Amino acid sequence: MIVRKSAQEIEKMAAAGSVVADTIAHVGEHLEPGITTGELDRIADEFIAAHGGVPTSKGYRGYPRAICISPNDMVVHGIPGGYVVREGDLVTIDVGVTLDGYIADSAFTFGIGEIAAESQRLLNVGREALAAGIAQARPGNRVGDISSAVQRLVESNGFSVVRSLVGHGVGRSYHEDPHIPNFGDQGRGPQLSEGMTIAIEPMITAGTPDVYVQDDEWSISTEDGSLACHFEHTVAITAAGPRILTGARDREPSLLK
Ligand code: MF3
Ligand code: CO
Repeated sequence: MIVRKSAQEIEKMAAAGSVVADTIAHVGEHLEPGITTGELDRIADEFIAAHGGVPTSKGYRGYPRAICISPNDMVVHGIPGGYVVREGDLVTIDVGVTLDGYIADSAFTFGIGEIAAESQRLLNVGREALAAGIAQARPGNRVGDISSAVQRLVESNGFSVVRSLVGHGVGRSYHEDPHIPNFGDQGRGPQLSEGMTIAIEPMITAGTPDVYVQDDEWSISTEDGSLACHFEHTVAITAAGPRILTGARDREPSLLK
């Protein structure tokens, strides 16, 4: 069942979304070689609480930490802990915040210091794929228009989209209908209409699309050990077109549109 939101509900999600955006930016400021992902999680947890929010991931289906941090070949759901961040890493920060009963969800992959040219290209394509997906998020279009725009952008650049993980509706619940796959056919799937709020989240790899769940039962990594990145925004479908609810970050002008 797709739950459409009123204008007031969308404003509440935007308020949650601004805490999400600020949390990701704040963690980004501390994201330097030598820091552990466990320390970054504590920083995020305190920051979210200081802004009146609750970290949605904590306790979600038993998930133990405030946010997910996934380095390098880890795609999503990395549990923060003893991993020490290094120069050249790609580190994904994925944050959900609940504020006044409404949730927003966003992810961003940072490159640490000097990164390899191919790593930078992967990040650029991931960001462009999210922008291409968001551009399709307008009333009258279908979910498949988002999916195929993401897939085409990624595959035409020689990278792969993960198929076993998808974006989703979001609102009072972290994961609502519909699924938003990162692959599919234009003109197919549920129709988008005003008031829908969805998390669009390309998860892409430099190698094959295959992933597996680690022994901790959360972390999901690429099967072939290739690098991955993940960019996600919560977006409202409005009469005027897509409205990004999880902010535009100063350091990433390509996401401002
Ligand atoms: N934020 C993730 C998403 O994009 C969900 C994380 S659930 C957790 O859907 F429990 F792993 F945190
Ligand atoms: Co999500």
